[in-house]
Amino acid sequence: MTPHPFDLTGRVALVTGGGRGLGFEMAKALAAAGARVILNGRTAATLEAAAAAIRGAGGQAEIAVFDASDAAGIDAAVDAVARRHGRLDVLIANVGQRNRKGMMDLSAAEVRGLVETDLVGPFLLARAAARKMILQARGRIVFVTSIAGPFIARGGDAAYPAAKAGLTGAMRAFAAELGPHGITVNAIAPGPFKTDSNSTRAMDPAEGARMAGRTMLKRWGEPAEIAGAAVFLASDAASFITAQSLVVDGGITASF
Ligand SMILES: NC(=O)c1ccc[n+]([C@@H]2O[C@H](COP(=O)([O-])OP(=O)(O)OC[C@H]3O[C@@H](n4cnc5c(N)ncnc54)[C@H](OP(=O)(O)O)[C@@H]3O)[C@@H](O)[C@H]2O)c1
Repeated sequence: MTPHPFDLTGRVALVTGGGRGLGFEMAKALAAAGARVILNGRTAATLEAAAAAIRGAGGQAEIAVFDASDAAGIDAAVDAVARRHGRLDVLIANVGQRNRKGMMDLSAAEVRGLVETDLVGPFLLARAAARKMILQARGRIVFVTSIAGPFIARGGDAAYPAAKAGLTGAMRAFAAELGPHGITVNAIAPGPFKTDSNSTRAMDPAEGARMAGRTMLKRWGEPAEIAGAAVFLASDAASFITAQSLVVDGGITASF
C-alpha cells in the first residue's frame, strides 16, 4: 500500500497561535495525521494544556513560547525548531488580531500595531521558515487570512481587512519565489467561526443570527471545521496547489 496522501508522518509543523481557537484545531488535526506539532503562543500554561491534550490523544506535540509579531523572537524560535528536529516541514502562520474600528476612528498606532501582528509577523515567520525549507527543497507554508480583506469588507472594520489582503498578496509573491525550491505557499481564508475571539458576537442573538444567515449553511463554523483545510494544504495531496486561498466560510463569499 502507498501512504495515504494526507499522511503527515515524520513531518514537523509549527502552528502559531496553536494553544486555542482555530490554531489548536489545526494543530490537533496535523498531529492526528502523523505530524509532530510545535504549538506557539505567548502563554506557556495554555500551550502546555493544549500540547498535553494532543499527546493524550496519541499525538506528538511540544510548545514554543514567543510573540509571533516579534522579529527577533521569530528567528530564534524557528532556528530552535530546526536545530532540535533537523527540519521544518510545515508552517501554519495563524496568529491574527482584529480591531473593529472604522477608518476615521483608528489611530496611526492602532493601524501599525495591527499590521505588525497580522502582516509583518506572518511575513517574517514565513521567511524564517523558508530559509530552513529551502535547505530541504520542500515545505508547506499556510497563512491564515480571512474572507474580510482578500474577498469582502464592511464599514467599521478597516485595519484588519487591509492587513489580511496584504498578507494574501505576500502569499502569492512568496509562492512565486519559493516554488522553484519545492515549497508551496497558500492561505486558508476562514469565515465566521465560534472561537473565543468571536464568542461575544456569536452569542449575541441579533449578530449571531445575522452572520449565520449570511452563510449558505445558515450557521457559524465550529472551530474543528477548519482542520481539514490545514491537513490538506500541508500534505502531499496538495503538492501542485500553490498561491491559492482556500475559503472555508460556509458559502458567504459565493452568495448574494
Ligand atoms: N475566528 C474566526 O471566525 C476567524 C475568521 C476569520 C479569520 N480568522 C483568523 O484566524 C486566526 C485565528 O483566529 P482565532 O479566532 O482562532 O483566534 P483566537 O481564538 O483569538 O486565538 C488566538 C491564539 O493566538 C495566540 N496569540 C495571539 N497573539 C499572539 C502573538 N502575538 N504571538 C503568539 N501567539 C499569539 C493566543 O494565545 P496567547 O494570547 O496566549 O498568546 C491564542 O492562542 C486569526 O488570524 C484570525 O484573524 C478567524
